Amino acid sequence: MEVTASAGTGGEWAERTYEAMAPVYDDFTAHHDYEGWLADLLKVLEHHGLQGRRLLDVGCGTGKSFMPMLPRGWEVTGCDISPAMLGLAREKAGEAVRLEVADMLELPRFGEFDLVWALDDAINYLLSPEELERALAGMQANLAPTGLLLFDVNELLAYRTFFAETEVVERGGQRLVWNGLAAKHVAPGSICESRLEVVSDEPQAGPGGAPVMIHRQRHFPEAEVLAALEGAGLECLDVYGIYIDGILKQPLDDTIHTKAIYIARSAA
Ligand SMILES: C[S@@+](CC[C@H](N)C(=O)[O-])C[C@H]1O[C@@H](n2cnc3c(N)ncnc32)[C@H](O)[C@@H]1O
Repeated sequence: MEVTASAGTGGEWAERTYEAMAPVYDDFTAHHDYEGWLADLLKVLEHHGLQGRRLLDVGCGTGKSFMPMLPRGWEVTGCDISPAMLGLAREKAGEAVRLEVADMLELPRFGEFDLVWALDDAINYLLSPEELERALAGMQANLAPTGLLLFDVNELLAYRTFFAETEVVERGGQRLVWNGLAAKHVAPGSICESRLEVVSDEPQAGPGGAPVMIHRQRHFPEAEVLAALEGAGLECLDVYGIYIDGILKQPLDDTIHTKAIYIARSAA
């Protein structure tokens, strides 16, 4: 199924989804190696002259994308549209981190950061090139003069596989069923949906039973991302592709890479 029209902003969809998903998010993503991934990203950022230790993590969720930065001496601000996800981040990080509820479409200026990042598909919850440009402009406004921006986006291959397939994750005595509804040959720039359901042998409380979490994401082709970066006052420094092994490769090839990584800085 390909979704053509979208009622509501990406932020509104994401908030509904992640308020329901927060209790199972860490279980569903337990196989993601953030320690290794972030170490690779930092190497690439250092190659681009990363200076300082102030991080703004946009769409930080339960904190998986910033926790490995704390022992490295980073001062972290995290923001997310879902208070429930941030509640779990707070449990992990204690008071060591500033956490704020914020929609990246209306990102406040939290301060000046050496690094602003949005990791693990947070950007794909934006539903149009206009939303993408608006979010990137908010990130740009939070950059220190020498600051760097890094984000990943899912590539077409991710929508033609993971978003088109069923996956079952059994953890902590429950079964998480991911039902990808995208077509196997979904077109570039499409909005795709997947429904995540917690299946339990126990009867679920409440009138509707267990919630179904709808993940509504848009694919952003490279040309659209580059145009949005430019429109947001950013200069793209580098683009990488990554496959599920997490290794960064160039050039980006959307037939073999499930994600792209973009690195940018404020345009002169
Ligand atoms: C797949 S999770 C990634 C979370 C975290 N970065 C990680 O790597 O584990 C995507 C996150 O983006 C957040 N998000 C999506 N759209 C957002 C928006 N418009 N504003 C702020 N947060 C958003 C969601 O609430 C969710 O926590």
